[in-house]
Amino acid sequence: MTNKIFPCVIGLGYVGLPVFVRLKKKYKTVGFDTSLSRTTFLKKKKDLNNEINPKDLHLFNGSKITSNPENIKECNIYIITVPTPLKNKHIPDLKCLEQAYQSISKFLKKNDIIVVESTVYPGASKELAKKVLEKKTKLKSGKDFYLAYSPERINPGDKNHQIQNTEKILAIETNNVYVKNKILKIYKSITSKLKISNSIEEAETAKVIENIQRDLNIALMNDIFIFCKRMNLNFKNILELAGTKWNFLKFSAGLVGGHCLPVDPYYLSYIAKKNNISLETVLAGRSVNHKLKNFIFKQIRNKILDFNRKNKKKCRVLISGITYKKNVADIRNSYALEIYLNLKKNFKNIYALDKYCDKLNRKKFNILDKIKLNYDLLIFLVDHNYNKKLYKSAHLKKIELFDPFGYYQ
Ligand SMILES: NC(=O)c1ccc[n+]([C@@H]2O[C@H](COP(=O)([O-])OP(=O)(O)OC[C@H]3O[C@@H](n4cnc5c(N)ncnc54)[C@H](O)[C@@H]3O)[C@@H](O)[C@H]2O)c1
Repeated sequence: MTNKIFPCVIGLGYVGLPVFVRLKKKYKTVGFDTSLSRTTFLKKKKDLNNEINPKDLHLFNGSKITSNPENIKECNIYIITVPTPLKNKHIPDLKCLEQAYQSISKFLKKNDIIVVESTVYPGASKELAKKVLEKKTKLKSGKDFYLAYSPERINPGDKNHQIQNTEKILAIETNNVYVKNKILKIYKSITSKLKISNSIEEAETAKVIENIQRDLNIALMNDIFIFCKRMNLNFKNILELAGTKWNFLKFSAGLVGGHCLPVDPYYLSYIAKKNNISLETVLAGRSVNHKLKNFIFKQIRNKILDFNRKNKKKCRVLISGITYKKNVADIRNSYALEIYLNLKKNFKNIYALDKYCDKLNRKKFNILDKIKLNYDLLIFLVDHNYNKKLYKSAHLKKIELFDPFGYYQ
């Protein structure tokens, strides 16, 4: 068995790009992404997700960013970080993962290692490895090549929890000490703290329940938030009171979006259903978090109708923040974006501002990145850093403000 370590990261998005950047510091590494537009920007040292600095995209020691699958041929460690979204009816969509396995299968050699980092339901990494890799190559997992699983915990927009300082789960099932040490060596160059597991399925389950727990905790707050609004009670004051108890968890209300929380509960419930196991709580957060979006939409709609009636003119509305959460460029499953687009369908003079949203999506959805304060109503759905200053200036100009989650009051 060769000592050579030649890694390849498959999928250079929010998760894959930081992994690639860490690995190429130490090893000649290939970063492979099927999106030509993504690799073209990255080669120009531009990460449209705004997570990685241009200086960290400098390529040396033979490392490569590519959309050409031929370039992954010589690699012997494949780390898969492709999207795992949902299809219609909330069914897991493993198409990208299957395609990534297909790309690897063309070049898989004896003793190669594959580590899946994408979020999946328990059993999915092995199931697909059997279906694609073993079938296509006639090589056997655990004997001829080795499969491991290491879910990602990066938190886009969060400068405190970066890949290098956040504890990471790493599941290795083989007893082959040589292979085990090789995987450990690679992962130690990615992050400083590893939690080792000997079960891929347990690590897959741990990842989805981390996000399900968060989805449920926020959903509980969102339910109470709506209750308080309807009962005319001050939600923030109530949280402050309850928060004085030692074991009260400090979650708050807000719009839940992104590629993880709105997706992962369905991954677990899918596999539970397939095994005739009923899960009573796992999906409970989903409908509540959805309900909050409709509640906020109705509140805004009523404000616009009130303004139009009182002033006998059409209200000029600006929504500041349309990405799925604060200080990120990501608009996947963003309720703020959905609210904006829905308002545009129903009213004239609806505008949005987002300095974090990437250039391509700003253009696609007609989103401003500079502001003139010539609006009648200014709405804050996402707590972006620049909003605080904007709130103050708009307040001085006596523009009507709507800050439903009380970020700036
Ligand atoms: N975004 C997060 O905060 C986060 C956090 C933890 C875990 N995850 C999980 O990590 C995985 C990746 O998420 P992401 O946010 O990085 O997605 P992303 O969309 O930002 O990046 C994925 C990249 O993979 C590329 N790709 C798709 N199919 C490919 C293929 N067959 N071969 C090569 N490249 C391919 C896409 O072009 C894209 O650039 C998902 O399973 C997600 O649930 C995401």
